[in-house]
Amino acid sequence: ETFQGKTAVVTGAASGIGHALALRFCEEGMNVVLADIEPAALTAAVSELESSGYSVCGVVTDVAKPEQVSALADAAFDTFGGAHIVCNNAGIFTGGLLWEESLADYQWSLDVNLWGVIHGVRAFVPRMIDQGEPCHVVNTASMAALTTMPFAGVYHMTKHAVLAFSESLYHELALTAPQVGVSVLCPELIKTGIANCDRNRPAQYSGEGDIVESDARTMVHDSIASGVSSGLPPREMAERVLEAVKDNRFYILSNDGWMESARTRIEDILQGRNPTLAPPDLT
Ligand code: NAI
Repeated sequence: ETFQGKTAVVTGAASGIGHALALRFCEEGMNVVLADIEPAALTAAVSELESSGYSVCGVVTDVAKPEQVSALADAAFDTFGGAHIVCNNAGIFTGGLLWEESLADYQWSLDVNLWGVIHGVRAFVPRMIDQGEPCHVVNTASMAALTTMPFAGVYHMTKHAVLAFSESLYHELALTAPQVGVSVLCPELIKTGIANCDRNRPAQYSGEGDIVESDARTMVHDSIASGVSSGLPPREMAERVLEAVKDNRFYILSNDGWMESARTRIEDILQGRNPTLAPPDLT
């Protein structure tokens, strides 16, 4: 199946995995709508792709806001006449002990990581179904959707929810509109800007007491920063996504130590054991 001449929409497209997806879809001959909350980075990404001769446009979008995600869908249909691959990819990370993290951390994480995906599906899927053409939704979860680890509970919770939501969406589309495919992207550590996601923390989550410094928080943020800095190039992730979309494969997984820790979790459940602490062996 070729998507040449069709249109892709990517949220969180100004950086990291989203940026690599946008470039890869351009190289595939697609029109690409880049959406991001960070205007300057978005403008830079769009001009870079334009100067390479690609057919792109940028829409400043906060995926936590349903009306902005609807406006993004309008922009894709107005500018390029459709949306054939939609990547609900924008995401952020907060960490710490569950009873110490601020409500703002919970709200920001749920608003972007989970509600962002929900708004994307609600805005785009009905229009994708009406298009009557082959198309595909890609929701970004994480390998963190298949495991649980301490000090990152809020993130795990949002990503487990994205996985469950995406599996349910898969079943529903398979039964009602099989021309619309679904994949869930579960990246391992990828070298992106996520460790600096506070750069885009909106004012509503940045008030007095909204960031609670603690040893657990510092420890997990440092470890994410160092893990991500030696992660895979986002380009490899983008390549894997395009292959999965073409093959209509739902799970886009890593094959490193994360799978073993996912297996341990399922075994715990099947055998009625209490949760094993099984951090992924990434060596
Ligand atoms: P990144 O920080 O490089 O890119 C994320 C982009 O999302 C940024 O450009 C940011 O401005 C944008 N963004 C943040 N809040 C937004 C909002 N409310 N509305 C619209 N855009 C917003 O990070 P990365 O790593 O590329 O993240 C992409 C996705 O990949 C996220 O969902 C993340 O959870 C997921 N992921 C990343 C992993 C990694 O190791 N980098 C591992 C597993 C999952």
